[in-house]
Amino acid sequence: MIFKANVKTMPARLFLSSGDMIADRRFDFARDLQMKGDLAAAADLLLQAIDLAPGFASAWFTLGEIREQLGERDAAIGAFRKAQDADPEDRHGASLRLMLLGADKLSAMPPAYVRALFDQYAPKFEAALVDDLGYRGPSLLFKAVLSVRAAIRKPAFFKRAIDLGCGTGLAATAFAKEVDEFIGIDLSPRMIERARLTGFYAELEVAEMVHGLRDRPDASANLILAADAMVYLSDLAPVLQESKRVLVGGGLLAFTVETHDGDGVILGEGLRYAHGAGYVRSAIEAAGLSLSRLENLSARNEDNAPVPGLVVVATKT
Ligand SMILES: C[S@@+](CC[C@H](N)C(=O)[O-])C[C@H]1O[C@@H](n2cnc3c(N)ncnc32)[C@H](O)[C@@H]1O
Repeated sequence: MIFKANVKTMPARLFLSSGDMIADRRFDFARDLQMKGDLAAAADLLLQAIDLAPGFASAWFTLGEIREQLGERDAAIGAFRKAQDADPEDRHGASLRLMLLGADKLSAMPPAYVRALFDQYAPKFEAALVDDLGYRGPSLLFKAVLSVRAAIRKPAFFKRAIDLGCGTGLAATAFAKEVDEFIGIDLSPRMIERARLTGFYAELEVAEMVHGLRDRPDASANLILAADAMVYLSDLAPVLQESKRVLVGGGLLAFTVETHDGDGVILGEGLRYAHGAGYVRSAIEAAGLSLSRLENLSARNEDNAPVPGLVVVATKT
């Protein structure tokens, strides 16, 4: 399968070739029709493409979207399930669409989806996030960590910091003067390439953050950061438990999440999880960490409005 990004519909429109030129061409026409609003004709063409190449994941996924746009929920569910079958790694994130449709219960994001999303996003990530969405996650974490240290009259200086979901390195840039050595962990090799260019990281690892933490020795980090990265985790328990193990006594875990008024975890329309404040408090307590700060602060805007968020600092006591 060839892997190529369809730039027209960025951010992050993924195209996985069917391997059949005619089916791929039908798919391209279908996408044009979809974008022009001729959904019925687009669906027709996609079905033709699928006839030629029954395992064409991108066609099934797009058909799912179109069925949804047409209000045909059951047909959308069927098409998204076919997209999952055609690409078991689920690089399109069909499982997320099934969760949003209420067809499947909330579960973890497919790592291959997150990797594909951010690999495509990497070249324009900072412009899109910082300039267009007013992204401020790293500076919010920085202020929160400084306040927590000031409250206990300790300097905000850390020997070793682990940056979970480090992306292009914006958090290390914000904390550069306060940290001796950074380790960055991220699922996306392209984001890691960008982080490397900052020169701030002593070590960079392409890994899922919980797996990356599992390989780290006990009590080996003074600070763990996760800026706008835990929004891709439904269950925070594993990352909190591993963070506790890896932190030294007195070490800090600082992270941002998106939030909502309820208590549990939901998947938002933007395909990021939102964690209720109650959930975050209980998860921190259950992991044996102590909550030092939890503020209602937004790390980014969407449609020119701040997305409800939390800035959290927990301490290993
Ligand atoms: C919105 S970006 C934020 C990047 C960076 N922390 C910043 O503040 O600019 C989210 C990053 O988290 C990474 N990511 C998401 N889920 C992950 C996971 N489970 N393990 C490791 N990295 C993950 C993505 O690949 C992406 O680079």
